[in-house]
Amino acid sequence: MNYLLNTKNLKKYFPVNKNLFNKASKYVHAVDDVSFSVESKDIIGIVGESGCGKSTLAQLIMGIYTPTSGTIEFEGKSINLQNKRNMLAYKRNIQMVFQDPYWSLNPRKMAKDIIAEPMRVHKTVNEYDMDSEIQRLLNMVGISGDRMYEFPHEFSGGERQRIAIARSLSLSPKLLILDEPTSSIDTLSQAGILNLLIRIRDELNLSYLLISHDLSVIHFMSNKIIVMYLGKIVEMGDVNEIFNNMLHPYTKALMLAIPSIDSSGNIKKIEALEGNVPSAINIPKGCRFNARCKDCMDICVTEEPTLKKIDKNHSVACHLY
Ligand SMILES: Nc1ncnc2c1ncn2[C@@H]1O[C@H](COP(=O)(O)OP(=O)(O)OP(=O)(O)O)[C@@H](O)[C@H]1O
Ligand code: SF4
Ligand SMILES: [Mg+2]
Repeated sequence: MNYLLNTKNLKKYFPVNKNLFNKASKYVHAVDDVSFSVESKDIIGIVGESGCGKSTLAQLIMGIYTPTSGTIEFEGKSINLQNKRNMLAYKRNIQMVFQDPYWSLNPRKMAKDIIAEPMRVHKTVNEYDMDSEIQRLLNMVGISGDRMYEFPHEFSGGERQRIAIARSLSLSPKLLILDEPTSSIDTLSQAGILNLLIRIRDELNLSYLLISHDLSVIHFMSNKIIVMYLGKIVEMGDVNEIFNNMLHPYTKALMLAIPSIDSSGNIKKIEALEGNVPSAINIPKGCRFNARCKDCMDICVTEEPTLKKIDKNHSVACHLY
């Protein structure tokens, strides 16, 4: 199988409590032994509560952080952060779209310069052809090319996110990382952005890693899903398989927490997740979810479960299976 991206046993531990000699006594286990693969045209949804390591994982893949250990392979080649030429080519292939387009777009720059910036840095388009390339990118995201002279505040929230998407496409990447791409946008514009992302994926044969707290967004967009808890993958597989046959007690609790509307129009939210996520510094012994798990057994407080394949397209890390 030819994978676009492969992470193997990826770890990122952040040092904390440094002493006088700059030596850390403790570490935040932000990403802890994460292995997964991305195939062409995959949309992989990544879910998990705040602090479980989703953004750190994204930043490791972007080459922003150096892994504590583990490897990242792109199109079969191992990524070496020390090799500047290798990294420049790699970084063109992977682009990120952030949660809040207002903060990720420079308010003093016109849309045309925001979109052109990566092409100028990487010298992929000459200035003579730049305006027509900017118009092409704006049209691709559903914005009229003649608006390229406007500033971020002249666009709506949804339009700003479209500009951020146009900018992320300017270097013809193969993988986009979308970190909560619609969570700061009004609900009316959200569906438009999600449909746009699907259309662009089909037209350009892209793959996405889609980080979202919103499981309905993940269900709508993704073909695969990764559920993370305290730096680890606890369940992963095909989205339909997981939504029809979720196994890990944490995944079940996350699903139950999706708000539903009852017959009288009231929004109901079941609080299936009790207690807080434990500290990522003092990792609990055994299963990391044991203090919050209703199915906890003796083995769960002594032995950490490993991620096991239950089916061709379904893996889970839990002693129940
Ligand atoms: N630069 C850093 N230095 C130290 N700790 C960090 C750093 N970045 C993240 N962390 C810690 O690593 C853990 C994972 O954080 P991360 O931001 O990846 O979580 P997340 O899943 O993206 O959360 P959210 O849903 O709130 O965005 C958290 O405990 C966080 O406090
Ligand atoms: S390993 Fe044990 S504590 Fe952890 S989720 Fe499974 S049953 Fe619950
Ligand atoms: Mg995050």
